[in-house]
Amino acid sequence: MQIIRNPKKLSEILKKYRSKGKAIGLVPTMGALHEGHLSLLRQARRENNIVVASIFVNPTQFGPGEDFSRYPRPAAKDISCCRKGGVNFIFYPSVKDMYPQGFSTFVTVEGLSSVLCGEHRPGHFRGVATVVAKLFNIVQPDSAYFGQKDAQQAIIIKRMVADLNIPVKVRVMPTIRDKEGLALSSRNVYLSLAQRHDALVLSGALKLARHLFKSGVKDSAKIIGSMKKMIKGKKSAKIDYVAIVDLNNLKPIKKISDNCLITLAVRIGKTRLIDNTIIA
Ligand code: PAJ
Repeated sequence: MQIIRNPKKLSEILKKYRSKGKAIGLVPTMGALHEGHLSLLRQARRENNIVVASIFVNPTQFGPGEDFSRYPRPAAKDISCCRKGGVNFIFYPSVKDMYPQGFSTFVTVEGLSSVLCGEHRPGHFRGVATVVAKLFNIVQPDSAYFGQKDAQQAIIIKRMVADLNIPVKVRVMPTIRDKEGLALSSRNVYLSLAQRHDALVLSGALKLARHLFKSGVKDSAKIIGSMKKMIKGKKSAKIDYVAIVDLNNLKPIKKISDNCLITLAVRIGKTRLIDNTIIA
């Protein structure tokens, strides 16, 4: 396994593998790796000859007052996790490597970026789309791996790839949870023991929604109402949104049918957590 900081150097190395017909898989991350990231690395390992993991806490996707400076950066642990996941190259650039002086080009996926998380985190998806487009250009992977946990992000990246004719297959893998149902997230380390317990209300509310749907409730407003009531029962929880939307265009759905996404963002104390489930 090799760690490479310089974008040009990585591109040059990968060019050789590509010319030999090797399939390249990319797993973009911000580090603080956990079993969710590891599942993406393993999938990439299964489907490619060369696996590249990028570790870059991307400043352009954090808003003012968000956790960019305190975002966890456990480098040694991340490197050993990449080794465990069968990574060949870790791309570990600095902010200057990715955003040199004079940088001024951004990618905006309109519409999809301004709803749900985008509404609460203005500019977030512009930063995500921009850095992912850069990573795609540097690595030029055959396939790139993303988690369903960040459903809106995956949808936006798929849209960008289609709209800009980027020759990358986007693979979206299932959400990995802990034993109790909490979706793994790098931000879970911010939670106290009591908050971690309260955080179970996210997956709990999604379970309730699925249960209501299975027992015949199709009215989104009713389901959302029950979910909100459950979440409000937790002292440390503040709802950003609870929504039921079309999986393809993220527009609200009134009556649940196929292809809908039940999604929510909740602040537990100061920590903002997201989760979702798909009704297929
Ligand atoms: P990060 O939060 O580090 O997540 C990297 C990838 O891991 C994303 O595709 C995310 O959806 C996936 N992931 C996170 N938690 C997961 C879980 N519990 N189960 C399955 N997959 C999970 O998402 C980002 O970084 C950044 O926005 C990035 C795409 C790297 C751009 O900067």
